[in-house]
Order: sequence, then C-alpha cells, then structure tokens
Amino acid sequence: MRYLVAGGAGFIGSNFIRCLLDSDVEILNFDKLTYAGNLLNLADIEKNKNYTFVKGDICDRKTLKKVFNKFKPDVVVNFAAESHVDRSILDADEFIKTNIAGTHNLLKLSLEYGIDKFVQVSTDEVYGSLGKKGFFTEDTPLNPRNPYSASKASADVLVKSYSVTHGLPVVIGRCGNNYGPYQFPEKLIPLTILHCMKEGKIPVYGDGLNIRDWIHVLDHCRALDAIIQKGKTGEVYNIGAKQEMKNIDVVKSIISEVAKKVPEKKISERQICFVEDRKGHDRRYATDPSKIIKTLKWKPKISFKEGLCETVDWYLENPSWVKSVFNKSYMRYYKANYSKRKVIA
Ligand SMILES: NC(=O)c1ccc[n+]([C@@H]2O[C@H](COP(=O)([O-])OP(=O)(O)OC[C@H]3O[C@@H](n4cnc5c(N)ncnc54)[C@H](O)[C@@H]3O)[C@@H](O)[C@H]2O)c1
Repeated sequence: MRYLVAGGAGFIGSNFIRCLLDSDVEILNFDKLTYAGNLLNLADIEKNKNYTFVKGDICDRKTLKKVFNKFKPDVVVNFAAESHVDRSILDADEFIKTNIAGTHNLLKLSLEYGIDKFVQVSTDEVYGSLGKKGFFTEDTPLNPRNPYSASKASADVLVKSYSVTHGLPVVIGRCGNNYGPYQFPEKLIPLTILHCMKEGKIPVYGDGLNIRDWIHVLDHCRALDAIIQKGKTGEVYNIGAKQEMKNIDVVKSIISEVAKKVPEKKISERQICFVEDRKGHDRRYATDPSKIIKTLKWKPKISFKEGLCETVDWYLENPSWVKSVFNKSYMRYYKANYSKRKVIA
C-alpha cells in the first residue's frame, strides 16, 4: 500500500508515520514545513527505504498533482493544517487557505487519481462547546466557535460532500486534545513543561476551569490505522479516551511531575499566572468514542497519568529538539499572544 501523508512533519503526522513504518507500507510525506513542521521529528526514519519526504504546499495544486502522478497513492491521509486556535484568532488567513482550499486540492486530486481511501484528520472542536453534562457524538451538530474550528468544520463538510456527490471513499476521524512527544510548545502541555523548566511564569487562561478531553497521540494514531483498515466509507468516527481534565489540573500535574524529576530547579505552583482569557474560549470538550470502540474494536491503551509521565521524560531527554523549536519565531508568536493580556492573578 502506498500512503500519501499530508502534513506528516507535524506533531501527530510524524508520530503516525513512525507507527505506520512498522508495517509493510510505502509512505510519501508531503509537508510545507511551516513553523509547526519539523524534519527533526522524523530524523530517526529519514533513511528508511519505504519513506520519502517532499516539501510542498497543499495549496499548490500543480506540485501536488506531480506527486500524485509519480507516487500513485492508494491512501491519502490529511494532517496538513494550521492547527492552533490562538493563531487563528490573531490572523485566520492561512487557516482558510490551508485547512479549506488545501483540503479541497487533496480531494480533487484523490478523485482524479481514483484512490482507495481518503482520511481526513479532524477534531472534536468542530462540535463547539459543551455545558457541564453530555458528550459529543457523531450526530452532534457542527457548531464551531473560532476560526480554527470553523475552518476544520468547513473541511469536514467538503470531505463529506465528495463522498456523497462523487462517491470518493472518505472517512473522517474527529479526535480530542492530543499530547505526547514532538508537540510544538504553543500547546498547553509542552508549553507548561518547558516554562516549568525555564523556572518562568506559566500562563493559564481565565479561571483555568476549561475542560479538555485528553488522548495520547499514539492512541490517536492507532485509531486512525483502525479507521483506514476497517472504517466504513462516508462515516465519521469520534476518537477519545474519556480523560476529561480541567486545564488548571493538567498544569498542576505537570508542575508536580517536573518538580519530581528535576529537584534541583525551583519548580512550584507559584509559577502559575492566570491571564486574560482566550476570546470565545470553548468551555468543555468531551467525546463519546463508543462508535469506534464498538464497530472497529479500537480502544485507548495509555492512561493520562502514564502518558504524561512519559511525555515529561521525552521533553527532558530531548534538549536539542526543544532548542530547535524554542526559537526567535516562537518567541515572536509568544509575545504577540501573551504580552498584551491582563494578568488576573
Ligand atoms: N493537536 C491536536 O490536539 C489535534 C486534535 C485533533 C485533531 N487535530 C488535527 O490533526 C492534524 C495535525 O495536527 P498537529 O497537532 O499534528 O498539527 P501541527 O501544527 O503540529 O502540524 C501540522 C503540519 O501540517 C503542515 N502544514 C501546514 N500547512 C501546510 C500546507 N499548506 N501544506 C502542507 N503542509 C502543511 C505543517 O508544516 C505541519 O507539519 C490537524 O489537521 C489538526 O487539525 C489535532
């Protein structure tokens, strides 16, 4: 089988490629290498004979067409996206281009070249925000509330339309918040680990009581594999591990874990700094994964406690990777996003 993986140099895509290379498949990773794409994520497998990297933009249909023509993929898996809500609030232009128009290019070429399966890697954020009770099911109406989730919901609707209108064999996986190795430090878990290590302030939005449903990236990758092998054409599968946590509890767990592992540093909850909330901040996400568990026999294997401990170890053991991402461009974004926020407590 020949897999075209779009956006495979990012956090989830690189973990997925590493998992997939254990089986007998050929993979072409097509990635623009934005600030979030990093070839160091795949340094250990770059010489694997079944793996090829091509630098390119999914918005550039000409280049993409050449890749389809030459590589002739059986399966297309689309991870390529602008993926950070805060950046979409600062400026949504790239989100609209990549997440919507870029996905459309992949769909159009997948149809032209008659692929066997198109997998759209989507998010539970397309469903919007929950109150204290209830879960997102695959039938929950789409109600995205920020430009990132709106662009992902738009892509999902386009993907579905290619199945209904043209019979393209598509499947959509909608997953909760991922954590694990190789995640860019703008997201809550690596941000907190790295700010702990720097003994600096750890910013937490609002009252810290927003709830996210966490899943280890490798459990997500296994779910995507199950969807590719056994998923029914045209279907959506929610992916989650039923591990809801308040942001502030995630931050406190990380502080305690890092403090245990690096006792020589002054790491404590005193580093927490509550800052002005994210605009339109969704309050709670919680995914009901019953469908994928029942129909595809997938289930998550990694508990949050175990996964977090391993994730902290990974960031502590990979200082050169950390150095490569904690660069000037990251600091510019960090300043743009956090410097004007009022400190609440
Ligand atoms: N991180 C999460 O918690 C999460 C949860 C559910 C779904 N998702 C979805 O999973 C996918 C991957 O997320 P991630 O966290 O790995 O994101 P990421 O930001 O780490 O990686 C995105 C990758 O896409 C590439 N890319 C961006 N624009 C591109 C373009 N125009 N052409 C080609 N490549 C491009 C980047 O270079 C990067 O390698 C995204 O579609 C995201 O919406 C993420």
